[in-house]
Amino acid sequence: MDRNITDSNKRNGVRINYDLIAKQYAEDFGTYIEDLDAYEEFEKYLVKDAQILDLGAGTGRTYSYFNAKGYQYTGLDFSKEMKSNAFEIHGEFPYVLDDMVDLKKHFKEKSFDAVFAVYSLFHLPNNDFKNIFSDIYDILKPNGIFLFTYQVGQGEEMVDEPYLKENGKKVLYMNYQSNEDIEKILNLFSFKELYRKEKIETSEAAINNNEVTTVFVLVQKIS
Ligand SMILES: C[S@@+](CC[C@H](N)C(=O)[O-])C[C@H]1O[C@@H](n2cnc3c(N)ncnc32)[C@H](O)[C@@H]1O
Repeated sequence: MDRNITDSNKRNGVRINYDLIAKQYAEDFGTYIEDLDAYEEFEKYLVKDAQILDLGAGTGRTYSYFNAKGYQYTGLDFSKEMKSNAFEIHGEFPYVLDDMVDLKKHFKEKSFDAVFAVYSLFHLPNNDFKNIFSDIYDILKPNGIFLFTYQVGQGEEMVDEPYLKENGKKVLYMNYQSNEDIEKILNLFSFKELYRKEKIETSEAAINNNEVTTVFVLVQKIS
C-alpha cells in the first residue's frame, strides 16, 4: 500500500465507493438478513426497549430487523447514498450521517445498551480501529453489549470492489486483523466475551475473490 495515503484519505475512499455502489447494495442486501444466529445471540442480552447503535448501518437491513422487534435503533454511516437508499426501502428512521471516528461528537457516554458493527470496521485504518473500541466502550452503559465482525488476516490493502470489478481498479480499503490483535485490543477494556463464531465467506462477492474468514464477536462491558 502507498504509505503516503493518510488515514482520512483511506476512509474517504471507502465513503466514495459506497456512494457509488449504494443502489446495487440496497437491491442485494437492503432487506436480506443473514447470520441470524449471531443476531439471536445478541438479542439474548438485550433489555426490553434497548437503545441500539448500528455503526456502518448501510442500507438498513439491521434497522428493519430490530425495529420490528420493538428496540430503539439508531444507525450511523458516512455514505449519503447508503442512507438515502435505506430511507427509500424502509422509510425514515434515526440515522446519523457521519464518519464513525467522530462518534463521540454525537453521543454521550453511557447512552446505549448495545452497539452493533457488522461488516463495517474492516474499513478502518489501524489507529481508527483501535480508537473506536475506546469510543464504543465509553458510549455503552454498564453491562452494555457490543457485536462486531473482523476479517482474519494481516495488514491493509486496496482491493477490487466486488460491484465494480469490471473497472479493474483496486479501490476499496480493507484492514485485516489477527485473532491476537483483537484479543490485545479487547484486553485494554473491561469487556467480557460472550460469543464468537467464524464464517468462511465463499460467495462470489468475497473480497478479491479470495476465501476470507469473518469472525463475529459479542462482548459485554463489565461495570
Ligand atoms: C459492507 S457495508 C455493511 C453495511 C451493513 N452493516 C450491512 O451489514 O448491510 C459497510 C458500511 O460501512 C460504512 N462505513 C465504512 N467505514 C465507515 C466509517 N468510517 N464511518 C461510517 N460508516 C462507514 C459504509 O459506508 C457501508 O455502508
